[in-house]
Amino acid sequence: MSVVKFFNGEQIPLEMHKVRIVQKLNLPPVEYRLKAITEAGNNTFLLQNRDVFMDMLTDSGVNAMSDQQQAAMMIADDSYAGSATYTRLASKLKEIFGFPYFLPAHQGRACENILAQVLVSPGSLVPMNYHFTTTKAHITLRGGLIEEIVADAGLEVVSAHPFKGNMDIARLIDIIEKHGREKIAFVRMEAGTNLIGGQPFSLQNLTDIRRVCDQHGLLLILDASLLADNLYFIKTREASCKDLSIREITLRMAALCDVIYFSARKLGCARGGGICIKTEEMYRRLRGLVPLYEGFLTYGGMSVREMEAMTVGLEETMDEDMISQGPQFIRYMTDELVRLGVPVVTPAGGLGCHLNAMEFLRHVPQSEYPAGALAAALYIAGGIRGMERGTLSEQRDSEGNEVFSNMELLRLALPRRVFTLSQVKYAIDRIAWLYEHRGLIGGLAFTEEPEILRFFYGRLKPVSAWQDKLAARFRQDFGDSL
Ligand code: F0G
Repeated sequence: MSVVKFFNGEQIPLEMHKVRIVQKLNLPPVEYRLKAITEAGNNTFLLQNRDVFMDMLTDSGVNAMSDQQQAAMMIADDSYAGSATYTRLASKLKEIFGFPYFLPAHQGRACENILAQVLVSPGSLVPMNYHFTTTKAHITLRGGLIEEIVADAGLEVVSAHPFKGNMDIARLIDIIEKHGREKIAFVRMEAGTNLIGGQPFSLQNLTDIRRVCDQHGLLLILDASLLADNLYFIKTREASCKDLSIREITLRMAALCDVIYFSARKLGCARGGGICIKTEEMYRRLRGLVPLYEGFLTYGGMSVREMEAMTVGLEETMDEDMISQGPQFIRYMTDELVRLGVPVVTPAGGLGCHLNAMEFLRHVPQSEYPAGALAAALYIAGGIRGMERGTLSEQRDSEGNEVFSNMELLRLALPRRVFTLSQVKYAIDRIAWLYEHRGLIGGLAFTEEPEILRFFYGRLKPVSAWQDKLAARFRQDFGDSL
């Protein structure tokens, strides 16, 4: 990995790439931002991108592509069957994971649909380090239940633990002993555990889980959507892996799993997804659903151009300079916010910087969605679009009761190679201002609440006139600044 020290001693992440295509940004004035968030029902998913200055909603499908990826898109083979594009992608996956079988799917949740349909039945259990929204929805839709057994450190917002995404092995064994192995559909590990702040697990933890799975004849499935960040953290934080290459770590991880699925909107910086499978038997069980829901076995609902970009993107994921950019920028942003006293998830993980809304807005009860309120407030304060990752992103239980999330986070994703350091500094500045005026921020209430995945398109209103007051204060403090 390239290490560049600054003469003046500053610790600044240095980009190992240059920007050759740009997109113009627009920062509308605060009065307009107030109007826009109101029209969007206080849901950042419903904002128009033209009204957003820094889009930190997600890293899904919005990472910058390399010149090599774009070039590869020009040589895609469109043929419905027997496409050379498919062969190139399948061979690349075989090379990096060492699995012989690959099924393409249009994105990560499509893989989850296929896996849940084949492996989950009513009453079955899926132990996992932590859920992801779409994963949980697919499993529960099939009548299955999830058991989240992330180690205790994972739920401590402020921590120095290097692997907060680790699974608690003792609890895994307890679940197996209590319910019996027949009840367990599979064990799922999520790399770069999204909803607890992009936190990694260690290779050692995965090795221990494999041992337990072997003892009980259980399948181990890896969600590799955020594998790139997790690889970086294993390389830099796990002493026994410091001399291994990223390629070697990837192969060792894969060797411990039975199935690896991923959203290529994240892994490989393209748009698509797929399932890599170790055994022919499992391949045959899963295969039938691909032509049914996705598309023929050689494209699975993806554009062949994206598949070519993915093949190159996967190869680039093996480059330490490439995968270190995200975590280094995230660490810079997180450390600066810690220095300013703003509550954030520590240690800095992958994916993005996560504000701890539970602490930031102590006066807003969970029933008024503090992380959602903070998302709306940050858009008003800076035209910055984050994503609520708290109670709003949960689903109600079978009786219709609100399920309060373990954490109330505002995720500020740092799509890889997209923002410059001055833009990150701008975000830090607006967050610091908001923290100073946090007393002005109030809660939200639903005006329209969809039953499934409500956070995507539900609409909310502020519980008081707090947003007008916040915008007025901005004007007062910043004068004629945007
Ligand atoms: N698994 C993980 C860990 C994810 O982060 C995502 C998507 C998926 C599965 C589903 O993949 O979107 O391609 O269908 N995460 C996005 C995000 C949506 O913004 O964090 P998908």
